[in-house]
Amino acid sequence: MKHLLCILSLALVFSCDSKVKENEKSVSNKKVYDMYEPSEMANLMNAFYAENEKIKAEILAGDTLGEFPLDFMKIHTAELSDFKKRNDKFKAYSQLYINAEQEVFNSESKIPIEDRFNNAIGVCISCHQTECTGPIPRIKKLLIK
Ligand code: HEC
Repeated sequence: MKHLLCILSLALVFSCDSKVKENEKSVSNKKVYDMYEPSEMANLMNAFYAENEKIKAEILAGDTLGEFPLDFMKIHTAELSDFKKRNDKFKAYSQLYINAEQEVFNSESKIPIEDRFNNAIGVCISCHQTECTGPIPRIKKLLIK
């Protein structure tokens, strides 16, 4: 699994740089007054963040987790910002993320829940490393030490 992640990380070539260029473009077009409107995916990502903060708190408190949040499946369909494409690698990471997150909710697993949770957050980070590095320091705070 780790090996697969490494290969995927090397192969991915998304970048948030395109976002910067996009902003510059609107500046040169004198459209600076346009408000930044988050994409459906950006909103979903913020919901993922909040949901995982909640899951982490429940794990640390030793509570049993509720149901797998079905909203997570929207990663396959949510619209990305205009400048991004949902290519095969993005799809592969989305699936890895869903699988890892489902494992967190697998009450029959023999692997410690902290490890399963950190593994799922690791997939967030791996996708971001190739995709959009900005939020990584924030995402790392989710990890259970
Ligand atoms: C399959 C790749 C992928 C995975 C997995 C992923 N992200 Fe993201 N994330 C993105 C992309 C792409 C964006 C930019 C979305 C856009 O601008 O349309 C993003 C944006 C974000 C943002 C910024 C949202 C904003 O307001 O602009 C945060 C925060 C974030 N992700 C957190 C997370 C967390 C937490 C996880 C795991 C629970 C996660 N991401 C998993 C690809 C991913």
